[in-house]
Amino acid sequence: MDQLRVEHLNKIFKSKQGEVTALQDICFSVRKSEFVVIVGPSGCGKSTLINIIGGLEERSSGSVQIEGKDVEGPGADRGMVFQGYSLFPWLDVQKNVEFGLKMKGVSKAERAQTAQRYIEMVGLENFAHAMPDQLSGGMKQRVAIARTLANEPEILLMDEPFGALDAQTRVVMQESLADISAKTGSTILFITHDIDEAILLGDRILVMSKRPGTIRDEIEVTLSCARDHSALTDPGFLEIKKRIMDMLWEEMNLSR
Ligand SMILES: Nc1ncnc2c1ncn2[C@@H]1O[C@H](COP(=O)(O)OP(=O)(O)O)[C@@H](O)[C@H]1O
Ligand SMILES: [Mg+2]
Repeated sequence: MDQLRVEHLNKIFKSKQGEVTALQDICFSVRKSEFVVIVGPSGCGKSTLINIIGGLEERSSGSVQIEGKDVEGPGADRGMVFQGYSLFPWLDVQKNVEFGLKMKGVSKAERAQTAQRYIEMVGLENFAHAMPDQLSGGMKQRVAIARTLANEPEILLMDEPFGALDAQTRVVMQESLADISAKTGSTILFITHDIDEAILLGDRILVMSKRPGTIRDEIEVTLSCARDHSALTDPGFLEIKKRIMDMLWEEMNLSR
């Protein structure tokens, strides 16, 4: 069954300078536990789309439904992870991860237990009492992911979550996210501009056109090889990569 359904979604930004159509007639759906990745040229409306689904931005027309109910604002059913880590610098790792649970009034013992489970899942069990400024960028982003997971949302919305990380840390994070996704069965909608990352992580990839953003292509990722760095040279992987790159080049008006 479709958990998330986006139908004929349009977004027009209005300002003194005029109108900008950011999204045009976007239609897609995501099944429960599916990992869907969105790629597209810079400025095509990816963040706008995920922010509308997250309830942080209003749509101009069309509909966004989760489990058949219209999205009318932010909600505990969706958890968002952005490129910036946005941790509370005055709270240690565990208190950062517990934050949402505390707001919900979960008891101290229960939130400690839940936080520990997710801190372990992101591999930071030895850093539960470290402060954010003692952590590397990759570790901070792990805390941000654990904090979102601790709220146990139905859907994870991730907007270029690894965009600020160095290449090596990124690979490690990709592998742990694939692991987390398998362990939790969470539904994930993930934006990236890294095509390798899209193919390694996605069950399905949506390719957007340049602004006004539309869905240009939809690719089911079926690879016979393991989804790790060894896949980068797999013929099936390369075929998908070429298909996406050709499309993005075309969108950017470059010919080869
Ligand atoms: N609050 C806003 N007001 C006006 N225009 C906006 C606003 N937010 C985004 N845009 C415009 O909408 C388009 C899509 O932006 P965005 O969703 O951030 O793209 P992406 O994430 O794909 O790079 C861009 O042209 C951007 O300038
Ligand atoms: Mg963006």
